[in-house]
Amino acid sequence: MKILYATSECAPFIKTGGLADVSYALPKALAKSGAEVSVVMPYYKTVKDKFGDKLEFISHFNVPLSWRNIYCGIFKCIQNEVTYYFVDNEYYFLRGSVYGDYDDGERFAYFCKAVLEMLQHIGYYPDIIHANDWQCSMIPLFYKGFYQRIYEYSGIKTMFTIHNIEYQGKVSYSFLEEVLGMDDYYMRFLNFGGCINLMFSAIVLADKITTVSESYADEVKNPYYGHGLDMVLGGVSYKFCGITNGIDTDLFNPQKDESLYRKYSLKSMGGKKICKKRLQEDLGLEKDPDCAIMSMVTRLVAHKGLDLVDCVLDDIMTRRIQLVIVGTGDSRFEHRLRDAAAKYNGRLSVNIRFDPGLASRVYAAADLFLMPSKSEPCGLAQMIAMRYGTIPIVRETGGLKDTVYPINPQTGEGRGFTFKSYNAHDMLDAIDRALKLYYDDKAIFKQIMHKNMEENFGWEKSAEKYLAIYESM
Ligand code: GLC
Repeated sequence: MKILYATSECAPFIKTGGLADVSYALPKALAKSGAEVSVVMPYYKTVKDKFGDKLEFISHFNVPLSWRNIYCGIFKCIQNEVTYYFVDNEYYFLRGSVYGDYDDGERFAYFCKAVLEMLQHIGYYPDIIHANDWQCSMIPLFYKGFYQRIYEYSGIKTMFTIHNIEYQGKVSYSFLEEVLGMDDYYMRFLNFGGCINLMFSAIVLADKITTVSESYADEVKNPYYGHGLDMVLGGVSYKFCGITNGIDTDLFNPQKDESLYRKYSLKSMGGKKICKKRLQEDLGLEKDPDCAIMSMVTRLVAHKGLDLVDCVLDDIMTRRIQLVIVGTGDSRFEHRLRDAAAKYNGRLSVNIRFDPGLASRVYAAADLFLMPSKSEPCGLAQMIAMRYGTIPIVRETGGLKDTVYPINPQTGEGRGFTFKSYNAHDMLDAIDRALKLYYDDKAIFKQIMHKNMEENFGWEKSAEKYLAIYESM
């Protein structure tokens, strides 16, 4: 089974969000299960700067994109039995930012076309092309329009995975001819909601569609979560399902994590206490080993639940608690949190930056981890927190619901504190329940913490599910 995994970001080469973690860990797990796996991504400036000297140049050719005929170089490396291909075009990818340019539609149209074009130049024909998010959503479309009738390509099947439905690749109608280079016939696969919607085309044309948790696959069929695509996803139920992500348990392992102040494991939990003490020192928090630390490692945006935090932040700070926040995002939340940090000096630490090392130290040092998302396709942070012995407080939605089972404080069953409605006071109630257990029933709190650390959040089970779908295709 040969799988080509197409993605716009992949750790350690380039990471802006959870997609990069999945693009690293899933192919690695698939390869472990015996599949022959390649990953293809753009050759961004950061990748060139940091990894350029480790890559081998293997081919170059031109990619036709409407009236354009554009250079494409292919670089390659092999890691963990996975082959990585990098699509090089300096005009499109040698830029400061990964996303957010005015011509993102054209940049990723080029990438999708280059992925398909590449196959005949490097003589590699996968059984499956697995495309992720809107940036890779034109692969099924181009396959249908330009490649499926070429003999060597004719057996390829396409899978499309939704990690983020909020970005769908919406462009104007002129994109059809001007960028995609396709005629009116193809409009039926693209025209949705008064514009060209690239994600829509992948949902219609890919052989299989998946998203990153079972609950989220149900939720997106409702308007509250579907961002306009709910009816379309409801209509393709026959080929659409959810597979819950895992985390890379080698990478996220308190026993091996080099960025921690002190490593620890279930057998020697002293390290976690040291992590707490040192973090309090480093972040200027009051030195109080008994005070509960609640943390958030998140993008500071409304749908991650920052609205709720904003609403009851002063109430939270009336509790006996220290709060540590790491992340960047909307300036309104950044400002609000900075102001609050000044007000609650010594008890609230706000770190407006993207810093994986600090994130690890915070997962390790905290007692509780707050993730009150409005919607969450899967979420990885809650699983990382549990692996580091930090009990999550989450809203019951998407992947959070599938990975964090509610705690019964009497029996110690469950994994975290949960609430249902997207409501700030329901969240506050969950925080209060967590604090009550933390201060009043240390034995049960510890029992849950230890059980979570033993839980296997690895990729093996999910990789098997992907393989079963690939086989079925
Ligand atoms: C996106 C989703 C997140 C998911 C990740 C990886 O970032 O928002 O919930 O865990 O993709 O699939």
